[in-house]
Amino acid sequence: MAQWRLLVKLRLKVLGVGSSMNKESFSTETLKIVLERVNQNDADTKLLNLNNTPLPIYNHNDSPETIHVNQAVDMVNWADAIILATPDYHGSMSGSLKNFLDYFWSEFAGKTFGCICASHEKGLTVMDQMRTVIRQCYGWSLPYGISINSGQDFNEKREIINESLLVRLDYFARDLVVYGGLIREQFKKDLKSTINNSYAVRYRE
Ligand SMILES: Cc1cc2nc3c(=O)[nH]c(=O)nc-3n(C[C@H](O)[C@H](O)[C@H](O)COP(=O)(O)O)c2cc1C
Repeated sequence: MAQWRLLVKLRLKVLGVGSSMNKESFSTETLKIVLERVNQNDADTKLLNLNNTPLPIYNHNDSPETIHVNQAVDMVNWADAIILATPDYHGSMSGSLKNFLDYFWSEFAGKTFGCICASHEKGLTVMDQMRTVIRQCYGWSLPYGISINSGQDFNEKREIINESLLVRLDYFARDLVVYGGLIREQFKKDLKSTINNSYAVRYRE
């Protein structure tokens, strides 16, 4: 039995969070393409699209437990790694993404995050702010993200026409699964072990 467990490598569970309220969102569209590629890298995927699963504004004193909130909580708890997708709004993330993030804290520890941003300006300040939130919650982020410019990277049929972006999407999907898997595995080991010199110690039950 123990040997069998060693042979079976668990598939990484990757959650994608789309946060644009635009029904024809380019950031969510790109997220879906990335999730397909993540899937091709032997990982399981789920999509939480905040457009059709809106969350009420987070309230620390009285957080409503709506069906959507429960769905979001279940999905975050399910996930080993998370991809956040947002439009660039004023050099920052969408309000709906920030609101989603406000619901969580310790649930993000030991999980690897990837960032996608639809922007006309590369979305660097947006991704900086996403990474700040992730780091604040003891999550890990990939050192690079995906920036898409709807006017340049897509054709009228909403297909990606930028070859170097397609290559980057492949790197991103592969790296998220490989590095995300390593970090998750180590974090789980540290949770179970008796060592006392890791940040994981504070997440033991
Ligand atoms: C309120 C608002 C603020 C925006 N601010 C910026 C901005 O600061 N920089 C930028 O490059 N694009 C900005 N945009 C453009 C969007 O980032 C761009 O249209 C993006 O493709 C939208 O992503 P989506 O298709 O996923 O909704 C803004 C759009 C809106 C509606």
